Amino acid sequence: MTDRRSFLKTSALALPGLSAIGTFSSAHGAPQLGEPRLSELAKALPDYASVDEEDYWAAVQQLYALTDTRIYMNTGGLGPVSFPVLERFRELTTELQSQSKTGHRFIEEARLPVASFLGAKPEEMAFVRNATEGNATVATGLDLKKGDEIIIDASAHPGGAIPWLNQLKIKGVRIRVFDPTGLDAQQILERIQSLVSERTRVIQVSHVTAPTGILMPVVEIASLCKAKNIWFHIDGAQSMGMMPINLSSIGCDSFATSGHKWLGAIHGTGVLYIKESRLDEVRPSEVGAYSDAGYALPDMLNYVASARRHESGTRNAPLVESVRVACAFMEGIGLQRIRDRGLFLTTRLRNGLSTIDSVEILSPSDDSIRASMLTFKSSKMGCSDLDRSLSANHKLRLRIVTEQDFNAIRVSLHVFNSPSQVDHLIQSVGEVLSTI
Ligand SMILES: Cc1ncc(COP(=O)(O)O)c(C=O)c1O
Repeated sequence: MTDRRSFLKTSALALPGLSAIGTFSSAHGAPQLGEPRLSELAKALPDYASVDEEDYWAAVQQLYALTDTRIYMNTGGLGPVSFPVLERFRELTTELQSQSKTGHRFIEEARLPVASFLGAKPEEMAFVRNATEGNATVATGLDLKKGDEIIIDASAHPGGAIPWLNQLKIKGVRIRVFDPTGLDAQQILERIQSLVSERTRVIQVSHVTAPTGILMPVVEIASLCKAKNIWFHIDGAQSMGMMPINLSSIGCDSFATSGHKWLGAIHGTGVLYIKESRLDEVRPSEVGAYSDAGYALPDMLNYVASARRHESGTRNAPLVESVRVACAFMEGIGLQRIRDRGLFLTTRLRNGLSTIDSVEILSPSDDSIRASMLTFKSSKMGCSDLDRSLSANHKLRLRIVTEQDFNAIRVSLHVFNSPSQVDHLIQSVGEVLSTI
């Protein structure tokens, strides 16, 4: 495999502002503080139409800081950053530290491009530390009473489930659960509908479920919620950066996501969206400087007319800047192209694994509800043993799925993964299972 650092230094992909990627030194040719590099990022990749498709994706792969010593297929757990994101984060951190500045303006400047990435308005965006914080802000902030009902999916990650369980403990809300596994979009909708009652106040679904990668029919669920005046919250931890997302078209009331998975922002980043017309229905619990539009002791506080009211105190501006640059990076590739690539790779994986005796695939096959993750199990070997062997002997970084007793393995396939890596995985699974 080409050495990435020498590749970047010598290839047409080397960027003026990224000439020192190999050493992560910004001493030479670094843009001024705050100077956007979006045009340079766009130049980082060859024109898709004028190169061989796999050469294009190989060029994308070269822009990632991943080690060559293992094959990373766990973006659903944590996504690696690209060099442009890493370099910009490092550069801004260095610049701000050199003047001991907060760089708060970078947070404000990120709001519009990140909102556009999600099809939302800047006033609807709050920068948070992770998807869990966004989910918890909504769960804690809605005015719920004892006996009010929340419907959530059985596949919810702890970061999606625990904030609601906390409301069960604190306020006595009731949680009703549906299992989307093995259902098509219409059946998922019917399952949700069957749980709706007079007391239903909130429906929350994972946009893409973590255990098996089901893409939920969020537009239809949003219509159902609207018709019944139910708050619709989406836990989008697994979707931002995996596919095009337009929140205003979806019609949800709130959406929380991680920056550090499919988007490839620095770890410890996330975004919370709250629909502008419903901002006042989520009472802020963590407030401070940046949350207010005027306050005075002893009795006056006006919230800023924006989801920014959920941000408080000094923040790490380079983290937020990394979200902005990661959005630009993904837009440079194209979100539909990323979605198509994910489906192409997972299809290849599905076809290959299906030929192996004892393997069962748990993820949906229908394009309308599948994502860039594929979960499989073997009746011959438990997930921990299989994963251990694939990791130790075949350099594969996957993720075991013990949730819902699946006893399975999840494969996440993103822009830096290749058909040959998928083939290696298929062959490795076959080899490991043939030894039993
Ligand atoms: C659906 C879902 N929600 C929430 C989370 C938690 O994300 P974070 O660590 O950003 O809070 C995850 C992480 O895997 C997830 O898959």
